[in-house]
Amino acid sequence: MAEIGTDIQKAKDILTQGGLVAIPTETVYGLAANALNVKSVASIFEVKGRPTFDPLIVHVPDLESVKSYSNHLNEHAEILAKHFWPGPLTLLLEKKSIIPDLVTAGLSTVGLRCPDHRVTQTLLSSLPFPLAAPSANPFGYVSPTRPVHVEEQLGNKIDYILDGGPCKVGVESTIVGFPNGRPTVLRLGGIAVEQIEALIGSVDVRTHSTSNPQAPGQLESHYAPRQRVILGDIEDLMTAHADVPYAVMSFNKRYDIPFSYVLSASGSLNEAAANLFQALRTLEKMPVEIILAEQVPDRGLGRAINDRLKRAAG
Ligand code: TXA
Ligand code: MG
Repeated sequence: MAEIGTDIQKAKDILTQGGLVAIPTETVYGLAANALNVKSVASIFEVKGRPTFDPLIVHVPDLESVKSYSNHLNEHAEILAKHFWPGPLTLLLEKKSIIPDLVTAGLSTVGLRCPDHRVTQTLLSSLPFPLAAPSANPFGYVSPTRPVHVEEQLGNKIDYILDGGPCKVGVESTIVGFPNGRPTVLRLGGIAVEQIEALIGSVDVRTHSTSNPQAPGQLESHYAPRQRVILGDIEDLMTAHADVPYAVMSFNKRYDIPFSYVLSASGSLNEAAANLFQALRTLEKMPVEIILAEQVPDRGLGRAINDRLKRAAG
């Protein structure tokens, strides 16, 4: 089993030698390797069981270092990075050849992100290379928001888990690309569409699922726990599935049943996002056959939560 610890120097040594380390970020834990070392990057795909057509995000310490990996920071990208970095925003920019094709799955763009987490900031600033890091879960499964989540699933396959506590945002970064120069949200995430639009005006949102391997990994079934997740009105679902052992994951209302999880009793979308993956992991360990869940209000972080719920229900 991988050691869980807070030793940044140890993480640095392992990464420098080409190994894999799980790192904390504000969104979810990442499975990190030296992004410029093809062998290390290849082992990320192997450990995650991830198809190599699905590109990886490259993590950088600051806006300044973008220059090393992309020749062109367009006007909108620059505004967004200045405003939201460090933070849960990934920008798809034309890549320089120093970024291996394996990282970008042969695409001409690279996803760059500067994470907002003290531990990983310190680590990134001390390394002479950026870190490629997908979420630290087996491909298609729920993302990890605590060190123990990583340990449970990848513990025997990686060298070290750098403990940075529970992730405070809890859903992955928002991905913005610029097809034909037009700012486009390709994955809903920790920065709300409203926040982006307040800054640069209206943007396209193109997050519909696809099974087309050429397109970004917005696969229809993802974030999926062991049991089937069924979405709808909780009361209706409880009536319809009365004959099957079920668990309930609700937004703010508590149900008086044996297995239930309330995402945020106070009705906070931020709190609900931070609890979402922990909730799915908790309920999946219960002796139930299905998980009944409801959508949350479709605004702010609620859009990212609903996106994950739909994919979990696959
Ligand atoms: O919050 C996050 O973004 C977390 C933390 C660890 O930083 N990372 C994360 O990585 O969620 P991952 O690999 O689980 O999801 C990255 C998504 C995938 O759907 C991938 O297809 C897409 O980003 N992606 C990465 N580079 C891309 C590119 N150049 N063009 C299009 N999509 C890209
Ligand atoms: Mg992922």
